[in-house]
Amino acid sequence: MVKTGGMVASAEPLASQVGVDILRRGGNAVDAAVAVGFALAVTYPQAGNLGGGGFLMWRRCSGQTAAIDYREMAPSAAFRDVYAGKADEGGPTVGWRASGTPGTVAGLALAHKKYGSGKLSFAELIEPARALAAEGFTSPASLTRSLTSYIALLSRYEASKAIFVGIAEGQKFRQPELAATLARIQKHGPREFYEGETARCIASAMRPHGWINERDLRGYEVKERQVVTGRYRGHGIISMPPPSSGGAVLIEILNILAGFELGRRGWESPLRWHLMVEAMKRAFADRAEYFGDPDFVRVPVAKLTEPAYAAHWREGMDLRHATPSSAIRAGQASDEPLHTTHFSILDRDGNAVSNTYTLNGPYGSGVTIPGTGILMNNEMDDFAANPGQPNRYGLIQGENNAVRARKRPLSSMTPTFVTAPEGALKLIIGSPGGPTIINTVLQVILNVVDHQMPIAEAIAAPRVHHQWLPDEIGVEKHLPESVKIGLERLGHVFGKPRTLGDAQGILIAPDGTVSGASDPRGSGTTISG
Ligand code: GLY
Repeated sequence: MVKTGGMVASAEPLASQVGVDILRRGGNAVDAAVAVGFALAVTYPQAGNLGGGGFLMWRRCSGQTAAIDYREMAPSAAFRDVYAGKADEGGPTVGWRASGTPGTVAGLALAHKKYGSGKLSFAELIEPARALAAEGFTSPASLTRSLTSYIALLSRYEASKAIFVGIAEGQKFRQPELAATLARIQKHGPREFYEGETARCIASAMRPHGWINERDLRGYEVKERQVVTGRYRGHGIISMPPPSSGGAVLIEILNILAGFELGRRGWESPLRWHLMVEAMKRAFADRAEYFGDPDFVRVPVAKLTEPAYAAHWREGMDLRHATPSSAIRAGQASDEPLHTTHFSILDRDGNAVSNTYTLNGPYGSGVTIPGTGILMNNEMDDFAANPGQPNRYGLIQGENNAVRARKRPLSSMTPTFVTAPEGALKLIIGSPGGPTIINTVLQVILNVVDHQMPIAEAIAAPRVHHQWLPDEIGVEKHLPESVKIGLERLGHVFGKPRTLGDAQGILIAPDGTVSGASDPRGSGTTISG
């Protein structure tokens, strides 16, 4: 039994408070997740959304699990070479044709219907978000800073400019059109987004650009997937399967590392970091080759997550030298900023949600649908949109992730649960950060399992990232000098320093004591119920 009235860890304090209020009103973790998901669409427009998609993992206190895939779907106008030769407007990262058909409203509705407590209606769970949009909230420094950084993108589209440009720190930020959209969904239910006035607004704004139409919206489907599972030093790992690569790649890396005594080597041992980076490279090479939407291509998840498969990778690892990525495969670079957001929720009964959702880049495509306040995603860039070329994350992706109508782009989102050897829930964890998500979640898990760190320390500790290509380690400024020097001696090369992730985690000790932490890299807050 957990010793808590519940806990919410999210990237934005008002949204965390909304979740805790729902728990106090008797809602369960899923009810709180729905309310937090809608609230972040108002208070954290960088990544919170109605116009994007994501993945929600649910674990009942009894151990039953569910994985809800509400990833965007490519519109019917999409095809393999739709972006050939197209950059900027018309391409997969900016503007009207960068968006997939959004899944967030349908995904949160399904989660509520199947796994909610039944005590609070869908409309009641949307109400805090509607009120925040209608009455406004005081823009924090972090939001004003972020909006200012993306002023060029947001100023390109009239409706985005009118809503998001010129919001000063401390100013009341009201979004009346978004409030009206939320009120329509409250009144008519989630299908309103896909078949009602909201759908008509989206389709009519998209029509001149030949993109998302009424049929795409009506045909959007949420999918329940089979969770992907693994084991690491006796602990259970439960995570998101394709179309996210996150869970399977995480488990593949953990399986490779399970063959080494990382804990015994000590956290600062350069050899520990070397092994971790070498394991990342190999699993990310598999990511590029094999992963895509399982409704369109066969992804050998069972094989890739087998301990015996990891043993084959371990055999080729040199403990004294970095293996060049070219000896595994080839690629290119990018240092674009990354955005997505994660929240972790535990209720007083021990039910849990681990949810990551996104517009892809900060503020997605930059397009707000006129009259609705809905910012649209640029998730089409998560496809191999220009086959053979790196996407905004520098990821080269294979034919399995080529664009097709109604296909879901490959993701790295990794909402995850870790269970203790005796089976009780131990950790709820996830992060934003494109491909760095997988390695952020990995390193928090290693810090907790191998190094017994408290959750705040496990999340704050410096991290590294390697994604096979480009062949360089993404490294944070506060990584100890001794680790950097040790890695250099082993032949590793560093990219320029960067921030990796914004993890939100909740840890349950064997005696049921609960602690949580929001990443000091971001401006989130963890609140107890
Ligand atoms: N849009 C980032 C991801 O899904 O991995």
